[in-house]
Amino acid sequence: MQIDFHQAELRFGDRLALRPLTLSLRERRIGVIGLNGSGKTSFARLINGLAKPSSGHVTVDGLDTVKDWKAVLGRVGYIFQNPANQIILPIIRDDIAMGPKARGLKGAELNAAVDGALTRLGIAHLADRRPHELSGGELQLAALAAVTATRPDLVIFDEPTNQLDLKNRALVEAAIRDMPEQAVIISHDLDLVSGLDRVLVFHEGGMAFDGAAAAAIARYREIART
Ligand SMILES: Nc1ncnc2c1ncn2[C@@H]1O[C@H](COP(=O)(O)OP(=O)(O)O)[C@@H](O)[C@H]1O
Ligand SMILES: [Mg+2]
Repeated sequence: MQIDFHQAELRFGDRLALRPLTLSLRERRIGVIGLNGSGKTSFARLINGLAKPSSGHVTVDGLDTVKDWKAVLGRVGYIFQNPANQIILPIIRDDIAMGPKARGLKGAELNAAVDGALTRLGIAHLADRRPHELSGGELQLAALAAVTATRPDLVIFDEPTNQLDLKNRALVEAAIRDMPEQAVIISHDLDLVSGLDRVLVFHEGGMAFDGAAAAAIARYREIART
């Protein structure tokens, strides 16, 4: 998808979370890095209409995130920082089925969509578990299965590997690397970020760098030292 920010800014009262930003993105793997509070989540929430710009506008493939919010939500999936907040039904399989059901699937077709999402992420054995019976990495994968089962064109990840041990981190990184959908990935995991096509660095509510991963990481290290 083509993501366009047109002088989009986000304020909370007199606090500026994101300064007016104009930007076009269409790479397959887009990274977002920066210190805590630098505006990363604000930027991500503007892309799928979870946050509405205080001024300016944001479009995805020409759809306005405010005027066309329903269409935008259908095409842009979002994985929250804490996936436990995202899985709302008591059994994983039922939670994953919600998206396909909303698309009108029933019976065998519905089961095939759910099984497909589970298998694709290697978590078929977790289908009948409850969310509190999963590890952090397994929860991330289940959240990703639920989001991809809705067939989005773009998935946004807000710090998907932060809470994870090395093993779960590798699982989630591989799932992100292999998924066919376009992705915007906010992360402090510089190994993950170093493989991305284009990386934005945020600092104090503004975009401080936009370009190749290695140069973005160097800029981020510089910012962290000051
Ligand atoms: N709901 C909110 N109300 C007030 N201020 C907020 C809210 N959400 C974020 N902010 C502020 O906006 C700034 C950017 O936040 P955020 O985009 O969440 O940063 P990051 O994701 O990079 O840590 C921070 O100063 C934060 O305190
Ligand atoms: Mg954040």
